Amino acid sequence: MAGSLPPADLRPVYIHNRKFIGSKQNLLDFIGGVISARAPEARTAADLFAGSGVVADYLAQRGLRVVAADHLFCNYVPVRAFLATPPGAVDPERLGRLLRELNALPGRQGYAWTHYGGTYFTHENAARIDAIRDQIAHWQETGAIGEAEAMLLLTSLLYAADKVANTCGQYDAYLKHLGREPYAPDGTHLVDASAYRPLELGWPMYRPDGDRHRVYLADANQLVREVEVDLLYLDPPYNTRQYVDNYHVLENLARWEKPPLRGKTRKFDRTGLKSPYSSRTRAAAALADLVRAARCRHILLSYSSDGIIPPAEIVAILATRGPVEVFEHPYRIFGNGAGRSRRRPVVERIFYCRVQD
Ligand SMILES: C[S@@+](CC[C@H](N)C(=O)[O-])C[C@H]1O[C@@H](n2cnc3c(N)ncnc32)[C@H](O)[C@@H]1O
Repeated sequence: MAGSLPPADLRPVYIHNRKFIGSKQNLLDFIGGVISARAPEARTAADLFAGSGVVADYLAQRGLRVVAADHLFCNYVPVRAFLATPPGAVDPERLGRLLRELNALPGRQGYAWTHYGGTYFTHENAARIDAIRDQIAHWQETGAIGEAEAMLLLTSLLYAADKVANTCGQYDAYLKHLGREPYAPDGTHLVDASAYRPLELGWPMYRPDGDRHRVYLADANQLVREVEVDLLYLDPPYNTRQYVDNYHVLENLARWEKPPLRGKTRKFDRTGLKSPYSSRTRAAAALADLVRAARCRHILLSYSSDGIIPPAEIVAILATRGPVEVFEHPYRIFGNGAGRSRRRPVVERIFYCRVQD
């Protein structure tokens, strides 16, 4: 379902058209099955670790009124644009004109070109990113575009940049051989072939019922104290890889504060953006605090068998609020890092708690 159909010359961009580590896109039926079995009467839901937003979008598709949040700006912006663009806030013809105007801009040798050209992006695409991102910032500063338009344009840019990034789908490293053939004779992945395609903005297929949903740039443990819903869906990071490290390039393009970058992987200072859920010493306490503060009737927690917090401890934390059941789904995920991708089996679990108090 979309807010409006894209004009013929602009490619449609869907919320799931993004490579996102830990995306539950392939587990929506599993999540939906647990909701149907245990919380069929739920009318409102919160997804406080929204990531790519595909679960929040799925809940909205099921007719629930959704609150979604993420603490990274590069996740908040697309989720807000896809889910919560109010009907009537954007004139589709004007949005089409703005996207075409941005697509036609010549490249500019600016911040992205200097820092990401020849590594995360080709120099040509990095220069296009500079021109487009500067123009969006200029339109915002001068009041030429409204907030809903800015969110959609930025979303279009983030998805387009992600599509032509010279990475394995995360930005902890780039593939080192920009300019060469995509694969070595032994099958080693050298360059993502799509990195050579010209960056092209598409049309974000935003929902038509955006006034029913709310999306926040927020810390889950703080926001949980502000919301009351029937169903609380939780999908925190489950390992020590910080999302901000995996997505620092998109976060930097989204914020566009042009900070100094350090090291071979060209990261900005991410103090304050690290999640306690990716810390071995802090994850369990953070989850316990969140569960204690939750005001809801059902809690669904997705957590991999690979995770930092042992299953028995998760059950103990949830059991402080009511009886707990564990649903399991065997699942294969892509291995991490550059090189030949490998699939390894893990068990994806949903811990379900029927809140009693
Ligand atoms: C496993 S991913 C969620 C994936 C999502 N369900 C999907 O299908 O795309 C975890 C997300 O939690 C976010 N996150 C980590 N710590 C957070 C916090 N304290 N508050 C809000 N979001 C947080 C990360 O930025 C990341 O996007």
